[in-house]
Amino acid sequence: MDWTKILAEVESVVEPSRGQGRVADYIPALAAIDPNKFGMAVAMADGSTHCIGDADEPFSIQSISKVFTLSMALRKVGDVLWQSVGREPSGSPFNSIVQLEKECGIPRNPLINAGAIVVTDHLVTQVGPEIMIDKLLTRLRMLADDDAILVDQIVTESESEAGSRNRALAYFMKSFDNLQNPVEDTLRAYFSHCAISMNCRQLSRAALFLAFDGTDPVSGTQMVSSEACRRINAVMMSCGHYDNSGDFTYRIGLPGKSGVGGGILVVAPGHGAIAVWSPGLNEAGTSTVGSLALESFVRQTGWTVF
Ligand code: DON
Repeated sequence: MDWTKILAEVESVVEPSRGQGRVADYIPALAAIDPNKFGMAVAMADGSTHCIGDADEPFSIQSISKVFTLSMALRKVGDVLWQSVGREPSGSPFNSIVQLEKECGIPRNPLINAGAIVVTDHLVTQVGPEIMIDKLLTRLRMLADDDAILVDQIVTESESEAGSRNRALAYFMKSFDNLQNPVEDTLRAYFSHCAISMNCRQLSRAALFLAFDGTDPVSGTQMVSSEACRRINAVMMSCGHYDNSGDFTYRIGLPGKSGVGGGILVVAPGHGAIAVWSPGLNEAGTSTVGSLALESFVRQTGWTVF
């Protein structure tokens, strides 16, 4: 593949649309990000990365962190996880509460906020929020081969201050006994992992294990079983973009996860992992320009599961 040509074409396709979409402002610390930013990184099996634009600029990974916490929870508790969270698309916004009441406090899937809070709760059990976050950071740093991955404390505080909706979700689930730990402990961990800062290069590199049957192809470390890897990719494909998951799959055809910081992480099984960042979002919280970039990328490379 001529990566220089492919990525130059992606850049020229997105150029007229740069700045489109709405930067997330319900977390005040995210509102000030320049909407014209655009970066992309493609990580290959040998750990090398092909990058364009602002691929080395850190951004708030937000809900993309849910993929990594899900992989840790499947490793820690296995299929027991599915007793407390489903695996169906919600067809609702990421922070919706409507389904929880009828469905006994069991969230539809691990990638909506309610489901991710349950996943985080499993990880907090026995160790507490601080050690849980340390473990996650250690894992990300190892996978990305880069120690410069941190939780942005300003974003964490901002999320917590603006966190009424997530508190409502968490207390509601607690009332159904679907959280094991004190709500504030679980939420501290949840807000912190959403507030992790990474750049496209680090993120694409850290997700390679999902493209290679659960084993990081560079270090040879098995992060999850190949079965769990398949399942994580399946959940990303069907639920990774909330009520925009069908459209994303139609356009891009790869398992992906969006974040309201404007990042999208995409897995191309057997090929590599791609991270793209541009802060303007569509209604469902998926990066508008990021999706356009991925469409162009898939069209050129043929990296799609269909
Ligand atoms: O809990 C929240 O609302 C944010 N920390 C994460 C939401 C998010 O990234 C939705 N994804 N597109």
